[in-house]
Amino acid sequence: MFMAQMHKWWQTGVVYQIYPRSFMDSNGDGVGDLAGITQRLGYLEWLGIDAVWLSPVYPSPMADFGYDIANYTDIDPLFGTLNDFDALLHEAHRRNIKLIVDFVPNHTSDEHDWFVESRSSRESSKRDWYIWRDPAADGGPPNNWTSFFGGSAWQFDEGSGQYYLHMFDVKQPDLNWRNPEVRAAMYDVLRFWLDRGVDGFRVDVIWMMIKDAQFRDNPNRPGWKPGDPPYARQEGRYTENQPEVHDVIKEMRSLVDRYDERVFIGEIYLPVPQLMHYYGHSLDEVHLPFNFQFIELATWSASTIRACVDMYEKALPEGAWPNWVLGNHDRSRIASRIGKEQARIAHMLLLTLRGTPTWYYGDELGMQDAVVPPEMMHDPQGKDNPQHSRDPQRSPMQWNSQPGAGFTQPGVTSWLPLSQDYQHVNVQVEQDDEHSYLTLVKKLLSLRQSIPALTTGSYTSLDGVPDDCFVYIREQEGKRYLVALNCSGQEQQLHLDHARQGNVVLSTFLDRNDQVELTNFVLRANEGCLIEIDD
Ligand code: GLC
Repeated sequence: MFMAQMHKWWQTGVVYQIYPRSFMDSNGDGVGDLAGITQRLGYLEWLGIDAVWLSPVYPSPMADFGYDIANYTDIDPLFGTLNDFDALLHEAHRRNIKLIVDFVPNHTSDEHDWFVESRSSRESSKRDWYIWRDPAADGGPPNNWTSFFGGSAWQFDEGSGQYYLHMFDVKQPDLNWRNPEVRAAMYDVLRFWLDRGVDGFRVDVIWMMIKDAQFRDNPNRPGWKPGDPPYARQEGRYTENQPEVHDVIKEMRSLVDRYDERVFIGEIYLPVPQLMHYYGHSLDEVHLPFNFQFIELATWSASTIRACVDMYEKALPEGAWPNWVLGNHDRSRIASRIGKEQARIAHMLLLTLRGTPTWYYGDELGMQDAVVPPEMMHDPQGKDNPQHSRDPQRSPMQWNSQPGAGFTQPGVTSWLPLSQDYQHVNVQVEQDDEHSYLTLVKKLLSLRQSIPALTTGSYTSLDGVPDDCFVYIREQEGKRYLVALNCSGQEQQLHLDHARQGNVVLSTFLDRNDQVELTNFVLRANEGCLIEIDD
């Protein structure tokens, strides 16, 4: 108990990401909204999550579905009003749920007043708030930088005869974070939401905020070919992870630290050694640099999972708190990536590892990517290559078996099609099924809450287990728990010499609570077990 109290809420808690367009539509327009989320908070409380991270809900032309912000301090009418936001925050807090909001500092919408002003002339007082460059000698773009969504990252502006930089959509001009006025204006935005009472921020593409001062060309990635993901085309040597970005992050963090108990999370896609720098030399940058290893794993196997967990644990700086992310709105859902059987294993892994877990709405049901016909796709990342569209993982939350899946009213067409499996993969059906995916996740969450070793205990992975199994011990104050995961579709025999006996507290099949001889026990195909080890 004493140990647990020394930890912050964001260390012992779990984070649930809501993509607001797709969670709950309260007004029958086919798009989710804030009042809808408020209506469904009871479900999240029942499930046992600690914090919600909300993707952007600010006024936006929706070229990138809210990641193109036209006003940082208001709510888009599609989602509601500031009053609706306050009501959501109030109701979440009443239920002991924290609310983390998305902060998108790298770029604004081209319809933000700042950009409208900046583009008005080369002499504009806000010209330098964005990244404007003269054309190259041949009139083409200033350098070879490509956008994450494909094509050049530079857009020519006829009116003023220069190019502006957009690392994402053409409607998302990059802000110039070398300009102190930009920093001051954006810090005001942070204060606006902190004063309103939000519990923290997830900062969008935080590692990309500063670009090379000399605008050098990025190296192309060898082997990239048309049809591969557009964001993989180039190494971001001069557009990402620039040394100066750390000063900006420190400034933001010190501002956040002036408020009690807020969390500061960074979206960072970098290899682990570089990711670690974002904790800051004195742990003065982000609290949690999102750890996307499970999202990025090329093969889901016991050895690759163990290697990435062990390597990450070893790389963590002294005092830094780990975290694990299973899914998000940018990548294919876990149950589609690794299959439904192994997705249960993935949830047991996520919720029994050391570190703050984050997962994506609907993953607790085993939701899979929806089939979205090309003509119904919206995502700018899929415009040239529908296979890279992120729409399939953004399909509406599946609440029940009724037409509209309880997401929207029957007869209303939702903004993205419902997944075809909604009639049997949904909250209502799974709440009543003692072996469902949802029941598994709820049990894992309640065990995580009641067993301190699972949140704040040590982690040790075990040798001498079958190649297809990943086995580790979580331990605190003499209490030891074994997590044994069979990452294959074949039965596995384990012979552990660490202890003689244990009790199965939970199997991913939710059908056993037996005592096992650890020197000789069997994991069924695709089974994971959490076992309390006898002293
Ligand atoms: C982040 C968001 C993604 C968005 C991009 C540009 O990666 O998660 O959805 O398209 O930033 O803001």
